[in-house]
Amino acid sequence: MKANIAVLPGDGVGPEIMAQALRVLAKIGEKFGHEFVTKEGLIGGIAIDEIGNSFPDATRQLCEQSDAILLAAVGGYKWDNPTAPDRPERGLLAMRKHFELFANLRPVKTYPALAAYVPLRADLLEGVDILFVRELTGGAYFGPRKEMGDGDDAYDTMLYSRAEVERVANVAFRAAQMRRKKLTSVDKANVLASMRLWRSTVVKVHEEYSDVALDHVLVDACAMHLLTRPASFDVVLAENMFGDILSDEASVLAGSLGMLPSASLGATAFGLYEPVHGSAPDIAGKNIANPIGMFLSVALMLRYSLQLEAEAQAIETAIDAVLADGLRTRDIARPGEDSATTTEFTDAVLAKF
Ligand code: IPM
Ligand code: MG
Repeated sequence: MKANIAVLPGDGVGPEIMAQALRVLAKIGEKFGHEFVTKEGLIGGIAIDEIGNSFPDATRQLCEQSDAILLAAVGGYKWDNPTAPDRPERGLLAMRKHFELFANLRPVKTYPALAAYVPLRADLLEGVDILFVRELTGGAYFGPRKEMGDGDDAYDTMLYSRAEVERVANVAFRAAQMRRKKLTSVDKANVLASMRLWRSTVVKVHEEYSDVALDHVLVDACAMHLLTRPASFDVVLAENMFGDILSDEASVLAGSLGMLPSASLGATAFGLYEPVHGSAPDIAGKNIANPIGMFLSVALMLRYSLQLEAEAQAIETAIDAVLADGLRTRDIARPGEDSATTTEFTDAVLAKF
């Protein structure tokens, strides 16, 4: 097949891990006989510096003409001014909103080869395989807000409509049907009005999915249960900010934040694929970033936007094999243990195809 892919390396470690991801994608194209046409665009801090806009029109157009977007990371110390009119993160949020990518899938599993690196008892980690479905275009990220300005207050509003909850709940229930048929809906219905609407909407949507077992967990309790009984979760549905926080927490179960991929989807096959981690400015330019979250994001793109399941699995299997061989980037190595650079790790992955 032929596919057009918008490539947005962004900031910090973004360009380094993206360069390696494109090597992996090219190898898949070669091996399976596909033509992946990749075109680069600017997003985030580098787009502010070069164009004066964190989500430039040219990038929007490039993405609109593509079948999928691959993005690495945005942000950095340089743009951390709290009163600046534009921020790198705004570019990412504007893009998610522009394409109505309301469902963000974040799979988390424990790798047997890495279980010893996870700071939890080994018996708790057996069978950990969670799919977070994070609502991505609503809640406090997009509700009415007041910026700090010169005044003494500022606010963000957690606002949800029934329709917004319904569409993402449908995605989560359908995912659960194809997995272990268990859905945990996260909320804070004991305190927040928006979260009471969330819960009652999820209960209603559940009527169409009687084969899925649904439970509701308050977000604070969920944060604890993720560490005390992680293997009990199947699909976890959460509003935007709760999902952001819980997925970083859950990355510990996978060994490192650098391991997690994500897929952001809307009503069609078009999607945005990016690792869960940020731009890691502290290690940028050193060729030591873990590229696994980025590679697994490529796999999700092949699976969800291009319907190339065998190709997606080829990447996942290659990564499993390299980890089983004992190769580690610095974030998943123990103190004193040898670690591979980003390029060395990629070489090892490519050698598995
Ligand atoms: C994520 C990130 C983003 C978010 C930031 C960079 C805006 O933390 O994708 O999890 O908060 O959604
Ligand atoms: Mg986050």
